[in-house]
Order: sequence, then structure tokens, then C-alpha cells
Amino acid sequence: MMQSSAVGLAALVLASCLLLSGKAATTTAANSRTLTQSLTSSINLNTSDTPVTINATTAGKFVRFLVVGDWGRTADTASLNQPQCSLTDFGGDNGLLGGIQQAETALEMDRVCQYVGGCQFVVGTGDNFYECGVYPGDTTGRLYSDWIDIYKNPVKTPTIANLTWYNVFGNHDMAINGSVEQEIAFTNSTPGWQIPSNYFLKDFDINGVTMRGIFVDSNPFIIKYNGSAKYYRQYFIDHSNPSYINQQQQFINQAMKSSTAMWTFVVSHYPLFGTATNYGNDAGAFPGQFNGWSMLLDSINQYKPVAYLNGHDHSLSLGVPPANKTNGYTQYYTSGAGSIGSQTDSCAERANYAYSNGGNGGFVLVTVNATVWQADYYTLGSNFPQCTVKSSVNTATPATYSPGCALGLSNTCCNGTNAKACTT
Ligand SMILES: *[C@@H]1O[C@H](CO)[C@@H](O)[C@H](O)[C@H]1NC(C)=O
Ligand SMILES: *[C@@H]1O[C@H](CO)[C@@H](O)[C@H](O)[C@H]1NC(C)=O
Ligand SMILES: *[C@@H]1O[C@H](CO)[C@@H](O)[C@H](O)[C@H]1NC(C)=O
Ligand SMILES: *[C@@H]1O[C@H](CO)[C@@H](O)[C@H](O)[C@H]1NC(C)=O
Ligand SMILES: *[C@@H]1O[C@H](CO)[C@@H](O)[C@H](O)[C@H]1NC(C)=O
Ligand SMILES: *[C@@H]1O[C@H](CO)[C@@H](O)[C@H](O)[C@H]1NC(C)=O
Ligand SMILES: *[C@@H]1O[C@H](CO)[C@@H](O)[C@H](O)[C@H]1NC(C)=O
Ligand SMILES: *[C@@H]1O[C@H](CO)[C@@H](O)[C@H](O)[C@H]1NC(C)=O
Repeated sequence: MMQSSAVGLAALVLASCLLLSGKAATTTAANSRTLTQSLTSSINLNTSDTPVTINATTAGKFVRFLVVGDWGRTADTASLNQPQCSLTDFGGDNGLLGGIQQAETALEMDRVCQYVGGCQFVVGTGDNFYECGVYPGDTTGRLYSDWIDIYKNPVKTPTIANLTWYNVFGNHDMAINGSVEQEIAFTNSTPGWQIPSNYFLKDFDINGVTMRGIFVDSNPFIIKYNGSAKYYRQYFIDHSNPSYINQQQQFINQAMKSSTAMWTFVVSHYPLFGTATNYGNDAGAFPGQFNGWSMLLDSINQYKPVAYLNGHDHSLSLGVPPANKTNGYTQYYTSGAGSIGSQTDSCAERANYAYSNGGNGGFVLVTVNATVWQADYYTLGSNFPQCTVKSSVNTATPATYSPGCALGLSNTCCNGTNAKACTT
């Protein structure tokens, strides 16, 4: 989300909201940090806190993976106003602050994985390289500056440095001609980077736990991007058509239907039920929208994957579909706060979520064994999760939410009574 072009003002307002939310947090939570502390890059996790998460003693019996989205902002200011990445179209976000929060979030991912006894892989929910993706040949070195040096660094992030990432594409990967192809090419050239094709599946068998991840290219579902000067037009012309969308849907249905894994999950960049973007509900709100979303939702409701994981909204949230769009089992996690967090994104669609972290940086940690699938939401600055969702392997049993999932909206910019206070 956050595609506003009101450059300076939006950045200023956002920065001041982040400062405000940081200050407010210190008065309410024992181990919160102010943004000032966050800028020093010193994360001191308070090990006196009892984590809700399954701990190191039981490591090995579980599989743990991180879910993080909307992350690559470390060198994005340098790429702005380069060919195919115009300041006019992409000037709305704050690259400097985003880069700092990206580094902070990476450190916290590392600390949390260390604390729980190790993680096994990472799911990236898209918007991998802001603002516009990477140039063919990655001539500006974004893979190193925004990924290798941040997450694969054996000194800064030793616990997660060797993990493989399974990614999807987001809209910000789609502006530069050749970016999609280059990100796919990284799969063969770079250990730990996986996007073998626009959409794909991955079967995991780790510690006796089997999982099938289905990684979806939902970009062409959004017809307003087809013909938008912002994005690389040829990609949408080639893919925003019934042939591609039906072909992918057949792949998704077959992948769900044939899955013999204990757990099947779906990854896509955009929320079906998010706090700002809401493609599962808003068919009429996006004129010309393709039927890709309703086909995907029908498939989810038929085959009951344990979770749909997405980014795009720059916050962490737990979506709640309306009664006539839920199968009573599948959970909708938004994890799109890998660099900048946005109060605006975290508040707009208040009816559709059980939890929102109020638009701060963070990620989700999923812990899995043969019978329990648990998602923990970690907001920057805390070593305990704010919201924990547990799903059973029995698809007739609904997930349970921890008390923290009902809290959300703890900052003064977006407190539930005046959701858009930050932008007006
Ligand atoms: C760590 O957490 C404990 C328990 O929540 C609290 O009593 C203590 O003050 C915290 N220490 C720091 C340095 O924040
Ligand atoms: C970790 O889990 C074990 C087994 O449940 C328990 O005995 C131990 O106290 C836990 N450790 C921490 C730090 O919570
Ligand atoms: C996009 O890139 C391809 C391959 O490099 C090139 O053939 C094509 O002309 C480019 N299209 C535009 C519109 O720049
Ligand atoms: C993990 O480390 C080993 C040994 O250094 C290396 O061969 C392998 O490519 C690394 N894997 C990833 C995913 O980075
Ligand atoms: C996408 O744009 C192309 C070129 O303008 C057009 O031919 C095509 O019909 C569009 N696709 C959809 C689904 O509207
Ligand atoms: C689902 O319920 C909403 C009201 O909550 C209603 O507007 C909509 O038409 C219903 N959709 C279907 C397919 O029944
Ligand atoms: C999975 O973990 C839960 C919670 O720790 C535990 O109750 C359950 O027995 C475990 N299941 C298996 C198959 O180990
Ligand atoms: C929420 O925001 C509104 C408008 O800024 C303010 O009037 C109200 O006092 C705030 N409520 C809380 C609980 O902070």
C-alpha cells in the first residue's frame, strides 16, 4: 500500500506519527523502545519476558518460519528518479526511515529466531525491492544492499543468515522492465533466494512436519494496474488476461486438491481481508477488477488451506472475512511491515480484522508441528508476540486467538475512533 504521491507532507506526517507511537508505547509496555532507541540499532530483547512461543527446549520437534513483506528499502532513495522509476509516480514513501526500520526488523527476526531455538526458512510476501524493482542484471546492486547485507550477514544476523527465502512479487517489483525476470534469475544465481517462476509450489518436509506452500502471482488480478503508467505495462498486458489467470487458478486448485501435506498454505502479495486493502470484499471498489480474487477465494473456501499469507498493507494484521466468505478455518495473516509501517494502512477497514499492530514494523513467526500451527505477531521492539493464533490440523476446528489479538490500535495516531488521523 502507501502509494500516495504527496511527497513531503506524507513523509513528515508519517515520521511524526511514528515518533508519537514510539513515545506512547514506552508508557504502556514494559519493554517497548522509543524510535530514538530504534535508530541506534540496539535491540536489547528483555529475556525476563516469558515468551508465549514454544521455546528452545522443544526445538527440533517444530518447524519455524518467518513471514515478512514489503521489505527492500535500504537503497530505494538512490533508485528513485532513475529510468522507469520516476519521482512523480513513486515519491510518496520515506526511504531513509524505511531503510532503518528494515534493518531493525531484520535484527529482531534474528533475535527472535535465536530465542526460540532457530528458524528453518522465510516466506517473503512481496514488494521485495522498493520503489520499482531491480534493473536487468541488477546494475544498481539491490540484491546485496537490500537483502544479502541485511538478512544474510553472518555478523549482523547470524541466526537467520543461512535461511532460504520463498518469495512472491508485489506491485513494487513490477515497475522496471525486466525486474520480474531478474528476480526469477536470482533463484539460480543466489543461494537462499527462491522465485523459480511467477507462481509455484514448494513442498517442505522438515523435522517430520510436511507442508505445502502455494505461491501465487496475484498482480494481474488488479486491472487498474494494467494500463497504469506507473507499472511496467508489458507485464500486465501479457498476464492480465483470462488465459493466464485461469491457467494459474487450475494450478492452485490442483496444488490444493492433491496436497498430502499436513499443512497447506497460500502466499500472495495482496490481502483478501486486510486493514487497508480488502480484495476479498471490495469487488465493486476497484473498477474493472478481474475475477481472479473471487476464484482464489472460492478455491480457498473449498480446499481449506490453514492460512493465506500476504503483505501489501504496511502493518501486521489478522483478517476476519464476513460470515458468507469464510470456511470457518482458513486464517488471513497480513505481514507487510518489513520496512516501513503505516498507521493509515493499519486502520482503514476496521470491520475486517481481529488484530492490527497499529502500523509499526514487524513480522510473523509461524511454528508448526504435526497437530498445531501457531502464528505469532512480533512488532518491532518486543521479544514477545502481541497476538498468537493457533490452528488445529483438523479443519473442522476453528483457530483460537490469544487475548492480545483483540487489542491492536494502541497508538495515538490511529486509535480506532479516528482511524485516518495521520493523513488528514
Ligand atoms: C524486563 O521485563 C520484566 C518483566 O516484564 C520487567 O520487570 C523488567 O523491568 C524489564 N527490564 C527491562 C530492562 O526493561
Ligand atoms: C521451555 O519449555 C520447557 C518445556 O515445556 C519448560 O520446562 C521451560 O521452562 C521453558 N523455558 C522457558 C524459558 O520458557
Ligand atoms: C523491455 O525489455 C525488453 C528486454 O530487455 C526489450 O526487448 C523491450 O523492448 C523493453 N520494452 C520497453 C517498453 O522498454
Ligand atoms: C548455507 O551455508 C552453506 C555453507 O556455508 C552454504 O553452502 C549454503 O549455500 C548456505 N545456504 C543458504 C540458503 O544460504
Ligand atoms: C490490459 O491492457 C491491454 C493493453 O491496453 C488490453 O489489450 C487488455 O485488454 C487489458 N486487459 C484487461 C483484462 O483489461
Ligand atoms: C454477503 O453478505 C453481505 C452482507 O454482509 C452481502 O452484502 C452480500 O451480498 C453477501 N454475499 C453473498 C454472495 O451472499
Ligand atoms: C504439537 O505441539 C503441541 C503444543 O506444544 C502439543 O500439545 C502437541 O502434542 C504437539 N503435537 C505433536 C504431534 O507432537
Ligand atoms: C483518539 O483520537 C481522537 C482524535 O485524534 C482523540 O480525540 C481521542 O482522544 C483519541 N482517543 C484515545 C483513546 O487516545
